[in-house]
Amino acid sequence: MALVTLEEILRSTRKEKYAVGSFNAANHSMAEAILSVSEELGLPVILGLAEVQFRYVDLERFVPYLRQRIEGMATPVALHLDHGLSLETVYRGLDLGFSSVMIDASSFPYEENVALTRQVVRRARSYGASVEAELGQVGGGEGNLEQGTEADAAGYTDPSQARDFVENTGIDALAVSIGTVHGPFKGKPRLDLERLAEIRSLVEVPLVLHGGSGLSEDDFRRAVACGISKINVFTETSLGAAGALRELLAKGTPLGYPDLTTAAEKRIRDIVRGQLRVFGTPALKSV
Ligand code: 13P
Repeated sequence: MALVTLEEILRSTRKEKYAVGSFNAANHSMAEAILSVSEELGLPVILGLAEVQFRYVDLERFVPYLRQRIEGMATPVALHLDHGLSLETVYRGLDLGFSSVMIDASSFPYEENVALTRQVVRRARSYGASVEAELGQVGGGEGNLEQGTEADAAGYTDPSQARDFVENTGIDALAVSIGTVHGPFKGKPRLDLERLAEIRSLVEVPLVLHGGSGLSEDDFRRAVACGISKINVFTETSLGAAGALRELLAKGTPLGYPDLTTAAEKRIRDIVRGQLRVFGTPALKSV
């Protein structure tokens, strides 16, 4: 059975210095593209679905479909609820069968973030599921393609608070703010790697980098070297697929719907394949 928890899929990342890619799938076609690369390369992957993306699917049918698809795979896959914004959403995700959930209470005052996250950890344990939470603010907004966002250092994660947060909540993975944004960047990304290394030295659990779209290969490699274990990507696959459709439609040749989805899935596969190679999973040595 390939379905694993976030804790399991990230367990060796720190010691072996690699990151697992976490790609959000807002529909069946995106999910198939992402999972097929995991099968093709024989590599673990995290398949995410964020609360803001629930509007694209019938969640009660989509999650069981994904579980069944993943259980038939040979590679390990964690099925992750990304950015659950309330207890209600996260509990619904656990009932539906996500193997890990994120409670994002990062916009609340610190004590409230701790209290909500603790409640989620307690509940998730009875499902055998993992929990990710966020401290600090990663700017931007998923699905917001109108304009880029600049990273705001005022929202970066405080290293000593991160240690306190992990100890007080019992989470399995911590999302940190070190210079990325969700959605397109305004300006050039500049990661605060010193801060990341300090957080890494103070915190035992795997660290998560949100807002992976728009970073260079060099950014990824350095972030992994400084302790990132999970890298989240959505905008790049989403815009990439839309771009592939535009290019195809611009040719003006007769096209059917499957020609479009095939082109979009191919573009997503190319992006996911390239990024998994950069994130450096050890099994890649044989690929
Ligand atoms: P991007 O959309 O910027 O790649 O961020 C994805 C993400 O962090 C999902 O949680």
